[in-house]
Amino acid sequence: MVSSAVRAGFKVGIVGGGAVGTLLAYALNASGVVPYIIYRDNNKKQKRLEKGLKILIRDVARELGSDKEYRIKAHHVTYDELPEKFLDVVFIATKAYDFKDALLSVLPLLNDSCIAISCQNGLGSLEYLERMLGKERAAALILNAGVYEVDDVTYVLAGYGRSYMGQRCRDASPKLGEVAKLLHLLDVRVVKDVEGYRWLKLIVNSAINPITAILKAKNSIIIEDPLAAKLASKTVLEGWLVSKAAKINLPRNPLVELLNVAYHTRDNYSSMYQDIIKGKRTEIDYINAAIVEVGRRVGVRAVINQVLTYIIKSLEASSQSVAED
Ligand SMILES: NC(=O)c1ccc[n+]([C@@H]2O[C@H](COP(=O)([O-])OP(=O)(O)OC[C@H]3O[C@@H](n4cnc5c(N)ncnc54)[C@H](OP(=O)(O)O)[C@@H]3O)[C@@H](O)[C@H]2O)c1
Repeated sequence: MVSSAVRAGFKVGIVGGGAVGTLLAYALNASGVVPYIIYRDNNKKQKRLEKGLKILIRDVARELGSDKEYRIKAHHVTYDELPEKFLDVVFIATKAYDFKDALLSVLPLLNDSCIAISCQNGLGSLEYLERMLGKERAAALILNAGVYEVDDVTYVLAGYGRSYMGQRCRDASPKLGEVAKLLHLLDVRVVKDVEGYRWLKLIVNSAINPITAILKAKNSIIIEDPLAAKLASKTVLEGWLVSKAAKINLPRNPLVELLNVAYHTRDNYSSMYQDIIKGKRTEIDYINAAIVEVGRRVGVRAVINQVLTYIIKSLEASSQSVAED
């Protein structure tokens, strides 16, 4: 069935043609939408125009090498190629540390009723989006999926579970429901209390990401190694205490969620591990450091999160200098 968003000819933009941007384009294609992927530089856009963009869908039950390949249909553009007030919906799919620049660049392209959806893990992006656009036009997608880059034009979808989308205002925009329908392939649900889901993912990430990056291990270490498991549980408990003091209602028990996520993603390397290995910046400031900051405001000392932040910052600095040599 063609959704009313497709019938209305929604113009959907995706800022950031990386892993998440490509996955969103794949899901939108399944609903008959050809999105505008917006690049900050011409080189990357040119590569995509010449070679195309594809996603490999990994079927975990089947042998390696049996991935299904899908060629993404998208308009690959830079900011200056779209008219002002062109977009009805925009997903901002950059890393958290690139979010502000990306939003400022795309702002002129949003029409007056355009909803902008932040896809970042951690805290900070949705808050900034709300300040710039108002709560009624700002939404968050809590994406439970694992996608990674193989080369400039190829990504792998390693797996996904149910994702959540919502706003932090009293009445969510009906447009959000339409957008969720467009993403039905990814099992996206619109929820009233998106803050709880955002924090649940934040707390689980605050344990799995830094611990796997420090120990240079797959996510399975969180369930297989007793000391890693203990540290992960204590990290989660600390984040949980901060969330309680901040009056966040988590939709599920975060300790159970930790075990579930670690089990279901046991063969994956976390994004923080991959960033450290590649000498790239991590999102620690938006995850563990953000928990420390909220803790400070609500009177909970988040010592474990602080220590994990220091270690990752130190690893980040040394891996970046090795990458530069
Ligand atoms: N990957 C996953 O499985 C996953 C799952 C859930 C949530 N997330 C979250 O989603 C966010 C995005 O992650 P990702 O894995 O998709 O990162 P990514 O693969 O690094 O993609 C980010 C893209 O944003 C582009 N970009 C940065 N600044 C831009 C700007 N000003 N204008 C246009 N494009 C810009 C980058 O382009 P350049 O090439 O120019 O740098 C890059 O292609 C992160 O916060 C992550 O934590 C990721």
